Amino acid sequence: MGYKVVVAGATGNVGREMLNILAEREFPVDEIAALASRRSLGTEVSFGDRTLKTQDLDTFDFTGWDMALFAIGSDATKKYAPIAAKAGCVVIDNSSLYRYDPDVPLIVPEVNADAIMGYSKKNIIANPNCSTAQLVVALKPLHDRAGIKRVVVSTYQSVSGAGKEGMDELWNQTKAVYNPTDDVPPKKFTKQIAFNVIPHIDVFLDDGSTKEEWKMVAETKKILDPSIKLTATCVRVPVFVGHGEAVNIETEEFLDEHEARDILRESPGIMVVDKREDGGYVTPVECAGDFATFISRIRQDSTIDNGLSFWCVSDNLRKGAALNAVQIAETLGNRALKKG
Ligand SMILES: NC(=O)c1ccc[n+]([C@@H]2O[C@H](COP(=O)([O-])OP(=O)(O)OC[C@H]3O[C@@H](n4cnc5c(N)ncnc54)[C@H](OP(=O)(O)O)[C@@H]3O)[C@@H](O)[C@H]2O)c1
Repeated sequence: MGYKVVVAGATGNVGREMLNILAEREFPVDEIAALASRRSLGTEVSFGDRTLKTQDLDTFDFTGWDMALFAIGSDATKKYAPIAAKAGCVVIDNSSLYRYDPDVPLIVPEVNADAIMGYSKKNIIANPNCSTAQLVVALKPLHDRAGIKRVVVSTYQSVSGAGKEGMDELWNQTKAVYNPTDDVPPKKFTKQIAFNVIPHIDVFLDDGSTKEEWKMVAETKKILDPSIKLTATCVRVPVFVGHGEAVNIETEEFLDEHEARDILRESPGIMVVDKREDGGYVTPVECAGDFATFISRIRQDSTIDNGLSFWCVSDNLRKGAALNAVQIAETLGNRALKKG
């Protein structure tokens, strides 16, 4: 007795990973439907050993389906999530549309799995922004031990966070740099991304911050603790997969760097790789394709009484999106939609 599962956005970066991870983790699937826009009708996508043909989301009937993992962007989600939810299919959404809705739980299972039961208000559960997901996994055990007052984070975000068009732009611009007859002007990004870094993700807000930075603030408060103060600078870097974050925290109680390392080592979803030698840390290239949030460079910040700094990397398409969504589906199955 398994579940009838829909993946909407199955031709995209996140949707393809959702199918991979459902198969890798042997999620109990009785039936699976891969959906995308009409443009991709019949496109083949992999699900473990099987090949699925994508169906048109616009004409799909969600009646009788248990869960739908959505990775289609906010505009399409606005149209289709209420249709699925109304048909009795629980939507696990990757867009930002419902994240700040008080009637929709925003879940990172390692951090706030108990909040999942709030799903029944709208039949929708939200998945956080990729940069928030890995951050709160790292912050939670340190907050439980020492009470985090303030976080300063700078992100180094890969282009896959901007979808398949973002990856194509980096690839084509990189090639064009070596072939002066080609010109690949910025389209998905605001400036050249090849051999460059761009301190701007999502739209600007009135206070000079960007929406991506605001999301990290609002989502950390909703998932972990509204009393935590956070300031972020979000930067796009020419890396295909894997987001890096340089994190500084100030805690209520003193937390020794050795104890912090031990706490993080024991915490769910985290791998500590922290040798103070050449290469004794994890970079995006190594985390791509992995499930864990990797923590390195843990050290005391001696400029304040109770400060720690560390480096955190994770696969943004996995923990930052598809893996977290599948973990939500697993939690939902265990706690609410029991089968068998
Ligand atoms: N990438 C990340 O790191 C990340 C992390 C967290 C959350 N997210 C969120 O996940 C969502 C998908 O991101 P992505 O990176 O996978 O984007 P992507 O690679 O551009 O893929 C977008 C997917 O959505 C489908 N789609 C778009 N408009 C549609 C419509 N009107 N009807 C049906 N299907 C439609 C596309 O189908 P076609 O191929 O047919 O166009 C494609 O399958 C976004 O909301 C994004 O914000 C992404």
